[in-house]
Parts: sequence; C-alpha cells; structure tokens
Amino acid sequence: MTDVALCRVDEIPPESAVGRDIDAGGRPVPVIVVRHGAAIAAYLNSCPHVGVRLEWQPDDFLDITGAYLLCSSHGALFEKAGGRCLAGPCRGAALVPVATRVDADGTVWAIGPEALPLTARR
Ligand code: FES
Repeated sequence: MTDVALCRVDEIPPESAVGRDIDAGGRPVPVIVVRHGAAIAAYLNSCPHVGVRLEWQPDDFLDITGAYLLCSSHGALFEKAGGRCLAGPCRGAALVPVATRVDADGTVWAIGPEALPLTARR
C-alpha cells in the first residue's frame, strides 16, 4: 500500500472542499477533500445514486448554504463529516470514505487508495 498526496490543508478554504484526481496503483481515482472545523475528511468523488462525480465545475462541491456537499446531477445533499446522504435520491446511503493522514507540514495524504472502489454505486 502506498499513500498518495492529495493536497495541502491550506489549499482547502475553511468549511469547503476541493477535488483531486490521484493515481492509485495505476488507477485514476477522483477524491473530494473536505475541511470541516479542524477536521479533514475525504471521500471518493462518486455519488451513491448513479456513480457520477459530484461537482458541476472544478472544486464546486457545496450547496447554496455551504453547509452540505451537493451532487450536481440530481441534488443529493451529504454531510461534510461522515458523508451521509440526508436528502435526494440516495438518502440514507453515504459517500465512500477515503482514509487520510495529515503531515506536520500540512500535506493531506490518502492512505492506501489502491483499495478504493472506482464507484460508490451499490
Ligand atoms: S447522481 Fe448524485 S443525486 Fe443522482
């Protein structure tokens, strides 16, 4: 398992998210990195509804209130912490979590992303 750098913490605006496409053992894996309070969370950038990416333009993952992650295809809303879908066609499902660690220099790493599925669709 090889950890892969995602971004630096200071590249994510507070209470926001950025998208990164990483190489996970030769597979392209899209990841959402979220900054929520002092916490960093990451999820596979794949909606549990039909498996598409969430954003409609780069790094645009939030709903109009800024409180939730939004899937631009059919409007599903996800919690920033935990990735659970609260509203929309996949209500009750959740984004696939990506394990992360943060170095002392502020670099966010995906831990062992080779094990991630390529889609969140069940
Ligand atoms: S693909 Fe995300 S809500 Fe339909």
